[in-house]
Amino acid sequence: ILLSLAATLAAYLLGSLSFAVIVSRAMGLSDPRSYGSKNPGATNVLRSGSKAAAVVTLVLDAAKGWLPVALVRWFGAPFGLEEGTMAMVGLAAFAGHLWPVFFRFEGGKGVATALGVLLGVSGWLGLATLLTWVIVAFFFRYSSLASLVAAAFAPFFYFLGAGMVWYSDARLGVAMVVMAGLLAWRHKANIQRLIQGKESRLGTKKKA
Ligand code: G3P
Repeated sequence: ILLSLAATLAAYLLGSLSFAVIVSRAMGLSDPRSYGSKNPGATNVLRSGSKAAAVVTLVLDAAKGWLPVALVRWFGAPFGLEEGTMAMVGLAAFAGHLWPVFFRFEGGKGVATALGVLLGVSGWLGLATLLTWVIVAFFFRYSSLASLVAAAFAPFFYFLGAGMVWYSDARLGVAMVVMAGLLAWRHKANIQRLIQGKESRLGTKKKA
């Protein structure tokens, strides 16, 4: 239990690295919290005009969700760490992204980090969810809508795939439902803009 708690704390600290801010700073771009949706996330970094910075942000924000879950999955068993700890470290990394201790607890919406957690649980689960995002984004050109739909589908994919490909664990399922709920709650403003037809589409840059 102690080891499990230590892993959870480490995952939270890792999740607290707001890569949108760190990468933008490193690449000499303005702070993503100052323009567009003001969200420290890959979608908003893309609005700066730098695709490279957006991709690096996406990969690193996803990696911080993936790494703790994958480490527990690969190396946890001999230490008595299993699915319960995978769920905990995944949630902790996700929570770190939303409420980063290093950035005054003002973080992002958790899309990339949640994707990383799913990839850590199962590559197929992550890919199915990513594909959902891509399909919705392709047809509707809204990152937020794609994220909301993909997050809602993830727990279904998990339980669906669970029956056929891998075995399911209720705690991991609960973690996914919790992540989807928090992710949707963080998209409140996006949901309002979507309803009002004011949400910014992918591929449009904007300031302010
Ligand atoms: O990555 C979060 C995405 O779903 C929405 O981001 O910047 O359009 O609020 P944003």
